[in-house]
Amino acid sequence: MIRKKSLEDIDLKGKSIIMRVDFNVPLDKEGNITDDTRIRASLPSIKYVLGNGTKLILMSHLGRPKGQVKQSLRLSPVGKRLSELLGKEVIQCKDSIGEETKKIVSGMQTGDVALLENLRFHKEEEANDPEFSRSLAEYADNYVNDAFGTAHRAHASTEGIAHRLPAVAGCLMKKEIDFLGRLISQPEQPYIAIIGGAKVSTKIGVLEKLIKKVNVLIIGGGMGYTFLKAKGFEVGNSLLETDKVNLAFELIKKADNKGVKMMLPIDHTVADKVEATATIKTIESNAFSPQMIGVDIGPKTIRAFKKEIKYGKTILWNGPMGIFEIDKFAKGTNQIAKALAACSGITVVGGGDSVAAVNKIGIADKIDHVSTGGGASLEFLEGKELPGIKALQDQ
Ligand code: 3PG
Repeated sequence: MIRKKSLEDIDLKGKSIIMRVDFNVPLDKEGNITDDTRIRASLPSIKYVLGNGTKLILMSHLGRPKGQVKQSLRLSPVGKRLSELLGKEVIQCKDSIGEETKKIVSGMQTGDVALLENLRFHKEEEANDPEFSRSLAEYADNYVNDAFGTAHRAHASTEGIAHRLPAVAGCLMKKEIDFLGRLISQPEQPYIAIIGGAKVSTKIGVLEKLIKKVNVLIIGGGMGYTFLKAKGFEVGNSLLETDKVNLAFELIKKADNKGVKMMLPIDHTVADKVEATATIKTIESNAFSPQMIGVDIGPKTIRAFKKEIKYGKTILWNGPMGIFEIDKFAKGTNQIAKALAACSGITVVGGGDSVAAVNKIGIADKIDHVSTGGGASLEFLEGKELPGIKALQDQ
């Protein structure tokens, strides 16, 4: 079990705190935030720190500007949203380093909160440049990392700075480590993992790891077709990673050897095109014709998956069951989300798309833990040591 110092372990009063958050939120073409989950997820740490008589400097990246200043990736919409959520002014800096920012920070009063500009406007952030982390560290007495979503990156603000200041985990980071850590170390059984999403290739590591832990492995979504192909089914024009069919076959064998019940879809919603105007029908796994595109799991599969989920004591869900962005193809994903919401076991949802699905149907509050990490939660569950966590002080 990972044990890192957290906010309760330090004396905050009168201190300047620099906190790395993951405010990498989705924006629409006009620059409006389409999902503020990650901002809301950091509120407990922000409120806790401010409530303890401190000055708080927040920092984050947004998108991948690759060391260039990109107007569309400024953090101003995030600062505005945070200010609404906190009900107080958030001082917005035009840069993360430099004289002007230093002046703003040194003029802060107790109770003030400032947001530095997008860290990735400087290439030194991703390069984990020592000078850059030193400049950030100079603003504060203590460092808090609440950016679980970016903990798999060894960047200046997630790793380098932790070696320059006393470094602890924020509330969100702690919660993520606790919940995801439980899935690795002592999951209550039956432990069921539901893995979906487009590609097997992005989930190989986690599938390998899960096969060693779970009792039931449910596979759905686009990646399900590569597994079906490995079982000898034709999958028409569905998403298929031909170069991963052998690997899928190996995974099926490994699951079998371990006594893991692997469940693949037994029927499907198929469409003639991936558009809202598509003509759809339900078919069994052995009835794909060459033009058919699998876009969702079918009703029999939904029933079978739900029946299994009902008795799970620990359930992990990562990745949608179909192309849920199109309502016509969202039934499987929605039904799985509802089954999780109704389950009395410990439920954990991770990965951007399944989190979006849970939010879309409004059941996030019925899930024990909705992870803010996409890549980070997968790497964590693979058992990798995340640099942003490793660098924090041990308990
Ligand atoms: C994420 O959205 O997964 C994190 O914010 C990390 O972003 P990155 O993949 O651009 O490093």
